[in-house]
Amino acid sequence: MPTVVIIGAQWGDEGKGKIVDFLTEKCDYVVRFQGGCNAGHTVVVDDEKYILHLIPSGILHKNKKCIIGNGVVLDPESLLKEIDTLIKKGVEIDNNLYIAKHCHLIMPYHIAIEEQSEKKKKIGTTKKGIGPCYTDKIARNGVRMIDLLYPEVLKNKIQANLEIINFLLKNLYNAETLDEQKIFSQYMDYAEKLKKYIDDVDIMINNAIDNGKNVLFEGAQGTLLDIDHGTYPYVTSSNTVAGGACTGAGVSPKKINKIIGIVKAYTTRVGEGPFPTEIKDELGEQIRQKGGEFGATTGRPRRCGWLDLVGLKHSARVNGFTGIAITKLDILDGIDKLKVCVGYKYGNTVLEEFPKELEILEKCTPIYEELPGWNESTKGIKDYDNLPDNAKKYLQFIEDSLKVKIQIISTGQKRDEIIIKEFPL
Ligand code: IMP
Repeated sequence: MPTVVIIGAQWGDEGKGKIVDFLTEKCDYVVRFQGGCNAGHTVVVDDEKYILHLIPSGILHKNKKCIIGNGVVLDPESLLKEIDTLIKKGVEIDNNLYIAKHCHLIMPYHIAIEEQSEKKKKIGTTKKGIGPCYTDKIARNGVRMIDLLYPEVLKNKIQANLEIINFLLKNLYNAETLDEQKIFSQYMDYAEKLKKYIDDVDIMINNAIDNGKNVLFEGAQGTLLDIDHGTYPYVTSSNTVAGGACTGAGVSPKKINKIIGIVKAYTTRVGEGPFPTEIKDELGEQIRQKGGEFGATTGRPRRCGWLDLVGLKHSARVNGFTGIAITKLDILDGIDKLKVCVGYKYGNTVLEEFPKELEILEKCTPIYEELPGWNESTKGIKDYDNLPDNAKKYLQFIEDSLKVKIQIISTGQKRDEIIIKEFPL
C-alpha cells in the first residue's frame, strides 16, 4: 500500500491543495510535516472555496485522519480560528485531527521580532513568525505542544525567552516589549482548547503504514524555498523537500513509496529573491489576473514568469520525483508563443544546473526555447486526448526534459477539472 509525499517543485503556490484533495480520496491519513500558517492551500468543493493554512486539506473529506507532525510550527491562535471556520461550514474536526507533542509553537514574540527584522533586512516573509520559531527550535529554546500540558515548564520557557526578546525589542529595535503574564495566560487558554488533539502521532503514522493504510504527506511551500536547497536566504525556514516528510513526521525513508512533484505550467514567486524567468511586462500581469496569482495567506500579488526547467531539474533531483502533476495548464490558453527556460547565461558561460551561489543566480539570464501556444480552451478537459496538439507538445517537452512522467494535469480549480494520465498511487 502506498505512502506518498506531495511536494511543490517551484517557489510554492503550485496548486498542491487541489492535487492533495484529489488523492486524499484514496488515503486514510493526511500528514503535514513542515512549515506553518505561512501556507495557504486552496481547495474548491461544490463551488465553495476553502483556504487551509495549518490543517491538512484531507479534513474536507469524511473520516480521514489529519495529522500535524512534529516538523510543523504551529500558531495556536491561527489554528483555533481555522478550526472554528471549518466547524461553521459543517466540517468534522474532533476525532479527525491530531497534533504531535513535539510540534513547536509560534509565540507572540516570534511575530514581534520578525516584524522588526523584516524592517532591517527584507526577505518578504509572510510575517507569521515562522523563521523566529524555527530559530528557537534549533537553538533549543522552543516551546512545544506538549509544554502546554505542563504550566510550570511553559511559564519558565516564556520567561527565559522574553528576557532576551524584550531586551532586543527595547534596545535594538526601539519597539514595544511584551508582557510575560499575558502570554502565559493566553497560552494556558489555548492549552485548554487544544489538549484533546495532542497525541503520539509518529506512532499513529507508523502503525497506520504497517497496517497497510494509505498515508499522504502534504508538503507546504516549494523546493526552491527549502532552507538548504532553495535560494537562500530568500527561502522559508524549513525543509520543504521530500526528505522533510521523514524528519517532520517521524517516518523512515524506507517507508516512503511515491514522491509526486507539483509543477505549475508557468512559474510564480512571492516575496524577495532572484527569479530569472520573471515576466515584467503586460503578459506577466495578464497571467497574474487570469491565474488569480495573489497570495492565499497574505493577498500579495505573486510575481509571474515562464517555466524554468533548470530550477525544475534541480527540484526533480533533490526530491526524487516518481511522478509529476502539472497544474493550471488552462491559464496558458491563448498565449501565442510559450517560452521555456532550458539554461542560464552567466557572463559568457552557459549553465545547465541551478547555481548554488545567489550572487550568480541573480546575474543569470534565461536561455529560452520557444514553443507554439494554443488558442483552444483547455479549461475543464478531463481526457488527455482532447487536449490541443500544442498543449500536448508543451507537456511532452517538460516530461522529456525532466525525465519524469507527467501523471496528472489540472485544467481548472474544481475537483473534477483534472486529467489522470496514469494513476500515481
Ligand atoms: P516565511 O515562510 O513567512 O518565513 O517567508 C519566507 C519566504 O517564503 C517568503 O518569500 C514568502 O513569500 C515565502 N513563502 C512562505 N510560505 C509560502 C507559500 O505558502 N507560498 C509561497 N511562498 C511562500
